[in-house]
Amino acid sequence: MTTPLLSLTWTDHVTGRQGFLVVDRLVRGVSSGGLRMREGCTLDEVTGLARGMTMKEALHYDPEGRYIPLGGAKGGIDCDPRDPAAYAVLVRFLRAMRPYVESLWTTGEDLGLTQDLVDRAAAEAGLVSSIQAVYPLLDDETAARRRLAEAFAVEVDGIGLDELAGGCGVAESVLTALDRAGVPYAGTRVAVQGLGTMGAATARFLARAGLDIVAVADIKGTIANPAGLDVEALLAARDAYGTVDRAVLRPGDRELPGDAWLSADVEVLVPAAVSYAIDASNQGRITARWIVEAANMPVLPAAEALLAARGVTVLPDVVVNSGTNAWWWWTLFGDIGADAQEAFAHTRRAMRALVELMLARAEADGTSPRAAAHAIVADRLPVIAERFGWYR
Ligand SMILES: NC(=O)c1ccc[n+]([C@@H]2O[C@H](COP(=O)([O-])OP(=O)(O)OC[C@H]3O[C@@H](n4cnc5c(N)ncnc54)[C@H](O)[C@@H]3O)[C@@H](O)[C@H]2O)c1
Repeated sequence: MTTPLLSLTWTDHVTGRQGFLVVDRLVRGVSSGGLRMREGCTLDEVTGLARGMTMKEALHYDPEGRYIPLGGAKGGIDCDPRDPAAYAVLVRFLRAMRPYVESLWTTGEDLGLTQDLVDRAAAEAGLVSSIQAVYPLLDDETAARRRLAEAFAVEVDGIGLDELAGGCGVAESVLTALDRAGVPYAGTRVAVQGLGTMGAATARFLARAGLDIVAVADIKGTIANPAGLDVEALLAARDAYGTVDRAVLRPGDRELPGDAWLSADVEVLVPAAVSYAIDASNQGRITARWIVEAANMPVLPAAEALLAARGVTVLPDVVVNSGTNAWWWWTLFGDIGADAQEAFAHTRRAMRALVELMLARAEADGTSPRAAAHAIVADRLPVIAERFGWYR
């Protein structure tokens, strides 16, 4: 792995909690990458995530598009988001990071945080916006900001468009893999870990495509029903942290331990919660044929090698969950308007093309899809740098 351009550790003077910012790379002087908050978050984790963002940006490079990829970055705060002190820590972190957010780091929600919370904390920290660093790159800043604000106000059946775009992309990745393998949607079973932003939207889009969601896990445990769960009822019963109120469970739904989602009898497994969920010691319990990484870094490399050896395909995070980030920029730069159907159609088209490209490359090179995605990135980064300049 190349050394990041910038890597820093911040210590909160009030609580002693630590926060991290890693800027892996700049393109036209700017980088993109969300901010996560979780107990135990480390600089290593944030470094890996920042590198992943560089890849996600490069993978969506379309020479014809208005959106020109940025560099990759990531922020992380080592604190439980439910800690009563969490919000004040977030504000102090953003205040300390203000020079970076103002000039070169565009950020948004990630694990443990919602965009509303990031926006509120950013305002309190004296920032114009969490993505203000990109404004100088816009042709018509006023129109672009209005378009993005309007897009954020769009809701589809109780969930904001900003929370749906990423899962729409994850679901389309699943459908593309099924299509290539000639597997029908109906009767294909899915288990999802995490029912927050990514997990919820993925579950909704897959259920609406005709797949059966038979297990979902949140921080309190797994909910399973081999006959299929009522996804919309579970989504509607979530609190702000993505925890489902068990009062809505139906008679056939069962409550199982937290890690039961992993060994559910399914074809598709979607880790959509924490990093490092699947390691060498628990991968043996997986019977799924595909693991689709809605979360960032949920499968450890040693586990992936063991899974590949027994024919389980991992569709990598850098491709699969890249839809959220791309949607922000497609909207802001004007490739799409503030419209859900247009956003979903564009996301589906782009994600299907990307997954096809990756799987074809993996087949041609005889590698894993992840290695293929990395190879595509390695081809594109110099092209982007040649066109927009080297910043590292
Ligand atoms: N939000 C985004 O825009 C975005 C975009 C791309 C990738 N991701 C990645 O997707 C993952 C999830 O992010 P999110 O924003 O959806 O998070 P979130 O905070 O909205 O939701 C997290 C969900 O995971 C559950 N969870 C947390 N710890 C768990 C555990 N140990 N076991 C089982 N469930 C657990 C929570 O109960 C909740 O349902 C992260 O890896 C994140 O980096 C997020």
